[in-house]
Amino acid sequence: MSFRIRKAVFPVAGLGTRFLPATKTVPKEMLPVVDKPLIQYAVDEAIEAGCDTLVFVTNRYKHSVADYFDKAYELEQKLEKAGKTELLAVIREVLPRHVRAVFVTQAEALGLGHAVLCARPVIGDEPFAVLLPDDLIWNGRSGSGGPGALKQMAELAERENASVIAVQDVPREQTGSYGIVETIDFSGRHGAIAAIVEKPRPEVAPSTLGVVGRYVLSGRIFDILEKTRPGAGGEIQLTDGIAALLKEERALAYRFEGRRFDCGSRIGLVEATIQFALDHDDLADAARAYMRDALSR
Ligand code: G1P
Repeated sequence: MSFRIRKAVFPVAGLGTRFLPATKTVPKEMLPVVDKPLIQYAVDEAIEAGCDTLVFVTNRYKHSVADYFDKAYELEQKLEKAGKTELLAVIREVLPRHVRAVFVTQAEALGLGHAVLCARPVIGDEPFAVLLPDDLIWNGRSGSGGPGALKQMAELAERENASVIAVQDVPREQTGSYGIVETIDFSGRHGAIAAIVEKPRPEVAPSTLGVVGRYVLSGRIFDILEKTRPGAGGEIQLTDGIAALLKEERALAYRFEGRRFDCGSRIGLVEATIQFALDHDDLADAARAYMRDALSR
């Protein structure tokens, strides 16, 4: 079996309580970092990695995600008439022509593992990617930076014929916020995963390598998730599915090149906003000047 990925799953059914009251009506995936919603960064990363089928796992409160990826006829007509070709290109680039978006519903919030399982009818049994849009990964300015995290992982998966999970070093006191992996033979940026546990307490965590929201997974995970019982927090955990997958197949942990912003937290979103503002030619100077000024007060 080849580990080339063509399909990516975006679980977007979470509540986003950390951003209330904004998330009363705006899904957290639609919160902007400068001028793009969070979900767009993850989508761009998946397309760059070679995916042409994007599966959004949503619920009834997330219609605006589907609306966002739909064609905006009236707006396009207006911009065309007004000769605003640059803006027209901006909204058309939201979803390039060769890419299709598929929406599946997760009727009940039963956990990340369950959300991924909801995508099974679209994925079939081939290897696929999972991207958690909360984790925004930056690898240098768009255009001049390095490859996105998922592209790096897709190349490794294909080369090694194995599932690949993104990891980063986290402070020991924070292991309870992450899936934590134990690896063998870590060399360079990757190592084989020996064990993976969801949100262990610092004193029992097998390491301080935390899972970040990017996965390249074997299609075998679906059979396993069907049988996975609720774990941490009473939810069906993707981490527990991966732990069971390890008994049958090899999976690698990959320390990606780039910086992750935890946009599921308010400070992460603020940091990402600053970073991306500094990346925009038309904003960088003003952003820098404002920060200097604000810090000197
Ligand atoms: C999820 C996963 C966890 C992973 C994290 C990365 O947790 O369950 O293993 O480390 O994403 O962001 P969540 O943050 O959704 O609770």
